[in-house]
Order: sequence, then structure tokens, then C-alpha cells
Amino acid sequence: MNIPLVGLKAQYLQIKSEIDSAVAGIIDRTEFVGGEQLRLFEEEFASYCEAAACVGVGNGTDAIFLALKALGIGPNDEVITAVNTFIATSEGITAAGATPVFVDVKEDTMLMDPGKLEASITPRTKAIIPVHLYGQPCEMEQIMEIAQAHKLKVVEDAAQAHGARWNGRRVGSIGDVACFSFYPGKNLGAYGDGGGVVSNDADLIARLRKFANHGSLTKYEHEIEGVNSRLDSLQAAILRVKLRHLEQWNEQRRSHASAYLEGLSSTDLIPVTVHENAETVWHLFVIRTLERQAFQKRLADQGINTGIHYPLPLHLQPAYAHLGLSEGSFPIAERITREIVSLPMYPELSVTELDYVLENVKQAGVKTATVA
Ligand SMILES: Cc1ncc(COP(=O)(O)O)c(C=O)c1O
Repeated sequence: MNIPLVGLKAQYLQIKSEIDSAVAGIIDRTEFVGGEQLRLFEEEFASYCEAAACVGVGNGTDAIFLALKALGIGPNDEVITAVNTFIATSEGITAAGATPVFVDVKEDTMLMDPGKLEASITPRTKAIIPVHLYGQPCEMEQIMEIAQAHKLKVVEDAAQAHGARWNGRRVGSIGDVACFSFYPGKNLGAYGDGGGVVSNDADLIARLRKFANHGSLTKYEHEIEGVNSRLDSLQAAILRVKLRHLEQWNEQRRSHASAYLEGLSSTDLIPVTVHENAETVWHLFVIRTLERQAFQKRLADQGINTGIHYPLPLHLQPAYAHLGLSEGSFPIAERITREIVSLPMYPELSVTELDYVLENVKQAGVKTATVA
């Protein structure tokens, strides 16, 4: 057997006729940028997120940059985010001209630790970006309370969490603004790059829409200089088709996760803990082991692909050497990062494949990390 970490082909085959006709429709109308399919997708995705509005943008990294720009955040400002996120989060902060400030995560959920936020707030702090990593929502009440107490904006990085809920509320509708990625492997993935910004704040949405479209809402009228970062119509049409299936796909991910959790309960491997208030959408299924290399190799020998999300916390990446943060600055993220492994997770994983993965994971029989 050969089991990828994320497989996209089976899903395309399942919805081929819907996708092919959506793509043909766009080509037939030659409406490649903007237009009805984009407008409808924006409406439908906002409604799915239980939020007022959405702007389709070029990708999830731009979504973060554009959200911060629309909030008026820039040079001399600081933005706090989790140190174990994908670099796109902090790239978005830097692109807006602000400085990323990292915060450590919780050992069990591996998400931003709200208890560590206040110590990172300075007079220059303007926003917090909680990252709903692996599909799990962050502890949003506490984060929102701290933000309100310090008059900070909250930008949700929901790139990995389309459809997740915190205390019954959809991610994307809780903070001031939320950013999504539609990168192909995401829970809602396009057939190329794509991103979206969701918010209940109509003024913010209008500012962002203008800035992302050359500073223009009416053709050749430019009140300001902006950038070109738009979700193209082909991607919007594809995403409209896929959005109709998202709930079912997230449900399939949940079912795979339950099977993994049950199978793993007889082993020493430690899965990520899901907070009792969280409804996760299992973008990734992550476990911890002290012998990662051997574990990954044994699985690879059996045709099972695994991943590491992510191999180095951001403060130790060469790109952030200038921040002067040494090893030991974020002990929990540093330890977790050495031990995490992502197992294959995508809706179309079959029962046979899942059983094969579990059997081999158990046989890998390695000693694993104990949670401190
Ligand atoms: C947590 C997180 N934030 C932001 C992004 C950026 O998204 P994109 O790849 O669409 O730029 C990604 C995905 O790649 C991500 O995983």
C-alpha cells in the first residue's frame, strides 16, 4: 500500500462532474477575474462561517497581511502570535510592516496559551493572532477578554480550521477579522492558491476589498494605492462546489480521528488533546513520540507517509535570527516540535487504509513522550 499524508485525487474523482462543469462555465463565460461566481462564493463562505461578509484574496498569507493593513496596523506596531505556527502567519505580520511577537503554546492542545499573553503585551502591541492549528479552535473567550482589556484587535488565523467551532461558534466569526487559506490540501482547498478574509465589520471589509484590488472599488478610480491580491473566478467556482461538501468531509475526518484515537489508546503515543469546548475539524492528526525518526522510517518502509507540522518553532528559524530569541525562550513549543508526527488524514482515507496505518503505528512500538 502507498498512503499519502494528504490525497487529493480521490476527492476530485468523487465530484468530477460538478467541478468540470463549474470550470467549463467560467471558461465559457471568460469571466476570469471577479464576477458572479466570486460574489456568490464570498456570500456562501461568509454564511458558512456565520459571519457577515467575506473577501476572496490571493492566498492565506495575503489574507493576514491584508487584514492587518485594514486594521491600520503597520510600522512600530507589534502583533502577538503562536510560535509553533506556519511561517505564513508571521510573514503576514512583517508584510504589514509590524513586528511579530511570539508566545508559547499549551502542552496538551499545542495551541496559543492565553495565560502567557499578558506578559507579551507592550505599549506597542496592537493585535493578537490566535492560530487555530491542526483544525482546533483556540481558547477564544480568554483571548478575546485579554484583547478587550488591552484594546487589542483579534485576527483569527483559521487557515487550517474551516468549519471548526469554539463553544458552538464558528471560527471566523469570533475575532474582529479572520483569515482563511484555500491552499489545495486545506479542509476547503482550491485547485491552486486562494484565500479569504471574513468579518462582521462592514467598514473593514470595504477597506480591505479596495486595498486588495489596486485601491479601487470602481474601475480606474484609485483613492489609494493598494495591491493586487484577488481570488480568481476559476478558484471561486471550484470552491463553491467544494463548500457544498465540506460538512460531510469534516464529518469523515472526525470519524477517522475517532478510529485513530481508539486505536492509539492501547499505545504510549500521545495524540493532541482536544479541549472540551472545541469542535475540531482535524485538518491534521498529530501525535507525539520520543523516537520520531525511527517511527517515521518504520511507517515509510510500509508505504505510509507522515509529516511534521512544523519541524522548528519560528523563533529558531534563520528568518527570525534578528529577533535574538535563543533556544529555551519557548520551552513547550520547542519540546513538542521535537516529538510531533502527523499521520495520514483526509476525508477519502478508506477503512482498509486507516486500519493498515493503525496496525503499523502500533507495530512501530516506540516509547513515546510523556506530557509534563
Ligand atoms: C496556519 C497557517 N496560516 C497561514 C497559512 C497561509 O496560507 P497560504 O498558503 O494560502 O498562503 C497557512 C497555510 O499554508 C497556514 O497553515
